[in-house]
Amino acid sequence: MQTNLRGRDLIGTQDWTKEELETALEVAAELKRDRALGRPHPYLRDRVLAMLFFFSSTRTRASFEAGMAQLGGHAQFIESRTTQIAHGDTAKEIGEILGRYNDGIAIRNVDWGVGNRYINDVAAASRVPVLNMQCEYFHPFQVLADLFTIQEKFGDPRGRTITVSWAYASSYQKPMSVPIDLTLLTTRFGMNVRLVHPPEFRLPADLVEQAKENARRSGGSLELMDDFDAGIRGTDVVYAKSWGPLLVAKDDAEGAAISGRYTDWITDGRRMATAAEDAIFMHPLPADRNVEVTDEVIDGPHSVVYDEAENRLHVQKAVMALTMR
Ligand code: CP
Repeated sequence: MQTNLRGRDLIGTQDWTKEELETALEVAAELKRDRALGRPHPYLRDRVLAMLFFFSSTRTRASFEAGMAQLGGHAQFIESRTTQIAHGDTAKEIGEILGRYNDGIAIRNVDWGVGNRYINDVAAASRVPVLNMQCEYFHPFQVLADLFTIQEKFGDPRGRTITVSWAYASSYQKPMSVPIDLTLLTTRFGMNVRLVHPPEFRLPADLVEQAKENARRSGGSLELMDDFDAGIRGTDVVYAKSWGPLLVAKDDAEGAAISGRYTDWITDGRRMATAAEDAIFMHPLPADRNVEVTDEVIDGPHSVVYDEAENRLHVQKAVMALTMR
């Protein structure tokens, strides 16, 4: 267990050592138990978290806000479009100023080629920890909650197979931060990862190389595949969600046209039946129901999507308690 996390940023899971991530997962389990038992755990009394959103959210906003209240503190909700950020407040100014009002700054900015740079620029100017609530490359709290859920369902994840697959969606061109960060994290924890997508939906090559290196070090594996059916067959974890062809398409319209070539990439009962008998279905939500995944699967016996969403709360509280004290 690592106890020296006070003041640390969490922008991508690769920023923390495996032991530090294990500490966060252990503390999350303790906090989940405390909440189930009704045991108060006000580790952040009088502390305030600024939550700055450049993009919409349901789970992330609600779980960070609830988590800060349960830790005895407060979270303030700030939207870029209803503040002077829309009129020119810079990342440096935000880091300096919000860092003086608050004990932590959490940011969601998924704009392609902008978000990660912005969060790092705020962190460089901030005197308090900066937490990434999702950028275009990483979604660390989602994937920590995902790993926590896998551990709850299967125990030690080493040697288990996870299928991180693209699926078709029509609602919008979703970020690729979940498949990137999930591939990075699960290869680090010794899982056998099948990264499955049509060719246009490839992930950044340097991050895929990093995941291969993670797998080499952990004893896991990373297999790149382009056949959805083969990717699901025999797997333990089906994690199929959509993302935009962001390395290929020049705009959303072109992205939607490319996605439209693969409308049959839906997780349905037939495909799910080919996974391992005790396989779980995961999705970070929101899902395009009956487009990305059928109701039969997401509401069915293999689905763990509500446990997965709940675990956002516990892992976020753990990281906040460890970093913002
Ligand atoms: N999974 C997730 O981050 O959900 P929100 O976009 O609703 O926050």
